[in-house]
Amino acid sequence: MNNNQDIINEVRRKNDIVDVIGEKIPLEKRGKNYFGVCPFHDDTNPSMSVSREKQIYTCFSCHATGNIFTFLMNYEHKEFNQVLSDLANRVGITLSGFKTKKVSTKYDEWYKIYDLANKYYQNNLLSKEGEGAREYLKNRSIDDDTVKEFEIGYSLKERDDLTKLLTMKGHSVDLLNKIGLSSEDHDIYNSRLMFPLHDLNGKVIGFSGRIINNGKQNKYLNTKETELFKKGKLLYHYHIAKEEARVKKSVIIMEGFMDIIRASTAGIKNTVATMGTALTKDHIKEIKRLSNNIILCFDGDEAGVKATLTSGELFKSEGIEVKVISLPGEYDPDTYILKNGKDAFQGLIDNAIYFSDFKIKSLSRNRNFASSEEKANYIHEVLEEASKINDTIRTEIILKNLAKRFEIGYNTLEKSFKELVNNKEIKKEVIATPKTTSSKKKDKYQKASLNIIYYMLNKQDIIDVVESEHLMFPTEALRALESEIVYFYHKYGFINEADFYTYLTPKEELLNLLNEVLEMDLKTTLTKEELFDYFKVIREYNCKKAINSLEEKIRNENDPVMQVKYAEEIRKLRIGES
Ligand code: CTP
Ligand code: MN
Repeated sequence: MNNNQDIINEVRRKNDIVDVIGEKIPLEKRGKNYFGVCPFHDDTNPSMSVSREKQIYTCFSCHATGNIFTFLMNYEHKEFNQVLSDLANRVGITLSGFKTKKVSTKYDEWYKIYDLANKYYQNNLLSKEGEGAREYLKNRSIDDDTVKEFEIGYSLKERDDLTKLLTMKGHSVDLLNKIGLSSEDHDIYNSRLMFPLHDLNGKVIGFSGRIINNGKQNKYLNTKETELFKKGKLLYHYHIAKEEARVKKSVIIMEGFMDIIRASTAGIKNTVATMGTALTKDHIKEIKRLSNNIILCFDGDEAGVKATLTSGELFKSEGIEVKVISLPGEYDPDTYILKNGKDAFQGLIDNAIYFSDFKIKSLSRNRNFASSEEKANYIHEVLEEASKINDTIRTEIILKNLAKRFEIGYNTLEKSFKELVNNKEIKKEVIATPKTTSSKKKDKYQKASLNIIYYMLNKQDIIDVVESEHLMFPTEALRALESEIVYFYHKYGFINEADFYTYLTPKEELLNLLNEVLEMDLKTTLTKEELFDYFKVIREYNCKKAINSLEEKIRNENDPVMQVKYAEEIRKLRIGES
């Protein structure tokens, strides 16, 4: 028996899927399954079901399916071996004797080049030519440990030294151009402080270079968009925040990576930043996985306040109310921590306010409350905002504050508030449409085949029956899946959906088909008659197919003797069919 597969199965069996997924997202028991909000698509409804019995999960909306391994690989952006070792640790299994197979990808060379460049830049910083850059860092109070931790480097003044080095090592100029390090045969980065950018797993996939003498050039120069580096998806420091957010039970979003670096020197490492772009839905999807306590800490200036408002709304549309730290106008997190120290900053974190409260505050900016119309407008806007809050205590506090501030009777406010909420609910009911099942239409042959495969995975004696009956499934993919099941069963002496899923994972083309089977939830008992009914459907299909091909032969045949022979075969098939 395959030693690796044995260990993998043991790790999977000792880690209960409901416990493992339940540690990441809240699950609620309904019937025999558990349900949660699927983290693999934009959703606020609990459309993911997790089965303790089968040790698999499946989302009825986006059709994400799999076992604990695939869940964690997708959820935490880790590779299989990493997930395997995490899960082994979780239950105290040692992985000695486990042989890892490295899967090579076309990006291996890219990663190698970025790593080399990263080391090269870091060396430059320590060299004689890096003196000015070191001076700059010193003036910004960035010490050697921080330089090491963030792998800060420096690109030299010459125009082509990195390109030369990398081509000497056998990498083509074309590739260097493609991955954003060179242009023709010149380096992209010159005389800049270099900050490596890591993907969500921690691999270097680009750089940001900062000028050290404020001049006419762009302050920061990022690697151009490549197949690996996409600004709309990348979050600076995510690979570190991943672990830290779990410890601190929160994640803080900042605007600049200098802010992240500074916060890190203050021991605050549960932070991420975008690369100078607005937050996207893709960013939010990744951030949601880190924690459900999300704090925005943008710059204190007008632009920062605007970004806070749009980002907070975006989170809200994804069903999350974030918290907000607002800094005094002249600060960003970097300068705030430098000036006031880490305790003061920690104080701001501890006192972060809810986004709705921040918004209500910001609604009153630049308003002239001498005008009663303006006053009323403002109050209506606040009520509108409050109606989106799902917490009666918080809404009552808001109403009381409003009543006090504008000297209005509490009852008057409460009455308009309730009207507003009621109107909304009526609207919601009108808009709500019944959910449609999006599953693709399958013909009866496909259905019968999938049902048989479902039972082969769940009731092992069915495998023997299918084998002894020499059943021929209608499509090649179904036949391939069937023979994999038979192979697995005979090799290991048992079969279940979760272990078979791991086994099949490298065979992507069959995985989609298996996913369809895992999504099914058929009754547990199957009588022999029912099984043979499925067989009959499939045989009917095979029979029709054979007849079709014989008819085709007759059409193409000139010899009447042969035509009669084919017709006879068709007749026999027809009899057999009925
Ligand atoms: N940015 C960029 N290009 C620029 C300016 C900014 O890509 N010309 C991005 C960088 O990712 C930067 C973020 O936008 O981290 C925030 O910009 P800013 O607040 O101007 O940078 P700071 O973090 O304040 O950087 P520094 O303190 O070095 O000025
Ligand atoms: Mn700054």
